[in-house]
Amino acid sequence: MSDKGEKCRDGWDSAAFITKEVADIRAQVGTGQLICGLSGGVDSSVAAALVQRAVGEQLTCVFVDNGLLRKGEAEYVRDTLAGKLGLKLVGVEAQERFLQGLAGVTDPELKRKIIGTEFIHIFEEEAAKLGHWDYLVQGTIYPDIIESGSGPGACLVKSHHNVGGLPENMKLKLIEPLRKLYKDEVRQVGAELGLPDELLWRHPFPGPGLAVRIVGEVTKERLALLREADAIVVDEIKKAGFYRKTWQAFAVLPGLRSVGVREEGRTYTHTIGLRVVTSRDAMKADWARLPHDLLATISSRITGEVPNVNRVVYDITSKPPATIEWE
Ligand code: XMP
Repeated sequence: MSDKGEKCRDGWDSAAFITKEVADIRAQVGTGQLICGLSGGVDSSVAAALVQRAVGEQLTCVFVDNGLLRKGEAEYVRDTLAGKLGLKLVGVEAQERFLQGLAGVTDPELKRKIIGTEFIHIFEEEAAKLGHWDYLVQGTIYPDIIESGSGPGACLVKSHHNVGGLPENMKLKLIEPLRKLYKDEVRQVGAELGLPDELLWRHPFPGPGLAVRIVGEVTKERLALLREADAIVVDEIKKAGFYRKTWQAFAVLPGLRSVGVREEGRTYTHTIGLRVVTSRDAMKADWARLPHDLLATISSRITGEVPNVNRVVYDITSKPPATIEWE
């Protein structure tokens, strides 16, 4: 076994794992009702798909659109998980609520706190509206347990959880079918359950989303600008075959303006930062040595296609001393 959270155990059998978990979950929950907060990330999607295999309609998934997602993300989650996989999915449109909560907030940790708390409130409200629940399904995986400081060899890497945290007021029993698995094993289980490769190989995306990629205040306009630039980065990285070779690749809005020039004259608009890193586990990371031509394509597409951007910079800092995210 690797201690890095990425490697599979030799000869590990995902089909046998699914058969056993399905039986165990059925035995444990009986006719109980299960609810799951779905983020659209790999772990919560695979957990939901696995539990659905066990209990079908007894599982309801709640997907909160917090307005801090990437371009097309909410639609993708709905199409894939509700459409193709047939999960019972309830979508909550909560963009305005999150924006209001974040108005005027510039401190990164405060942003995280507000987003996490708001998520729990919304999830609890929605769950109460939908009915009575006995179990909460979570996509916790083995490295999360180690990294949150409770397992053996705890090393306190992250102080945050992917989907905000645990709605403790609801007093639900936890179902965490992936808690003993490493990331690659989760992907294997997902593939076996029919989840598309595109979803299973998505880069990690922080729970607070684009809010921690905007330095300073989060506004609708800034989100829209960053979303467009980010979509270009991911598109070009994928086209050039670098998506799977990198740990994360995204755009950042540093919130600074600088002077530029176009045919119409002088401009004074936004800078976009590119953050593309290689890593095994996010504890350390290195900036990706992307080909200059790829960087050039990304830069000219962003300045050509995204209004109010006149400059693109590439972040050439490793972690440490920098973090992967800018906030
Ligand atoms: P940093 O920026 O600390 O990030 O080098 C390490 C990894 O964690 C992700 N990250 C977060 N994930 N909530 C999350 O769910 C957060 O608040 C958060 N902050 C950072 C980051 O994307 C990277 O993969």
